[in-house]
Amino acid sequence: MNRKYRRTVIAGNWKMNQLNSGVKKYMEELKENLPAQKTCDIVLCTPAVMISTMVRAGKECKVAAGAQDVSKYEKGAYTGEVSAEMLADVGAKYCIVGHSERREYHQESDSLVNEKAKALIAKGIVPIICVGESLEQREKNLTMEYIAYQVKAALDGIDGTQVRHCVIAYEPIWAIGTGKTATADQAQEVCGEIRAVIRKMYGARSARAVSILYGGSMNAKNAAELLAMPDIDGGLIGGASLKPVDFATIVAATAQE
Ligand code: 13P
Repeated sequence: MNRKYRRTVIAGNWKMNQLNSGVKKYMEELKENLPAQKTCDIVLCTPAVMISTMVRAGKECKVAAGAQDVSKYEKGAYTGEVSAEMLADVGAKYCIVGHSERREYHQESDSLVNEKAKALIAKGIVPIICVGESLEQREKNLTMEYIAYQVKAALDGIDGTQVRHCVIAYEPIWAIGTGKTATADQAQEVCGEIRAVIRKMYGARSARAVSILYGGSMNAKNAAELLAMPDIDGGLIGGASLKPVDFATIVAATAQE
């Protein structure tokens, strides 16, 4: 973390879990366990139908609501889609784009991820842009090349002012939901490379302002070590964010200097 230049962000990704009726209880438990002092921005990215509930429930303990996906279109005949304006209208502050599960199961391309990020920026929502290599790419030593490509593609046409309001999440696919976390050194190496790519594209000032998160089996036990790394400014947490006590423990791990 580097608090001098950028925000620390702990974001939960509930994926397709939880129910609207369970949000209140979750938030009560979270509140009981959160540290008294605010040391990071806390976000919970829920399924779209729970965002309004999260906006209301999150007010008291300053938890922002986020979405997990958005349409690239502004409005119109796109059955089933949710626009960036609709997300902003219900009070979402963040939205994940380019998660590997959407890239894999919904065939989302790099250019679609880029269009979605731009749609969010246009409505004042912070895109959490996910990038990450497969195990095969890592074993073939293609990680850095692939990540650099994904970052450049996702940021295409986004200017130097806008990029400072973007969050990048490095989520190695082999670490998602597997219990196999990247080591702190592995995660730092890639997050450092992501910042270097942004530096080349936009210059040092913009690069140091962008928050870069790590995601992939981050939990209450390993969070502190990952967050101690200079280019890891927070976490995008799946499984552990479903348990309020564990999520609060990860938030508390940002208290370190
Ligand atoms: P897990 O924390 O369950 O590995 O999921 C990570 C993730 O995909 C967050 O977006």
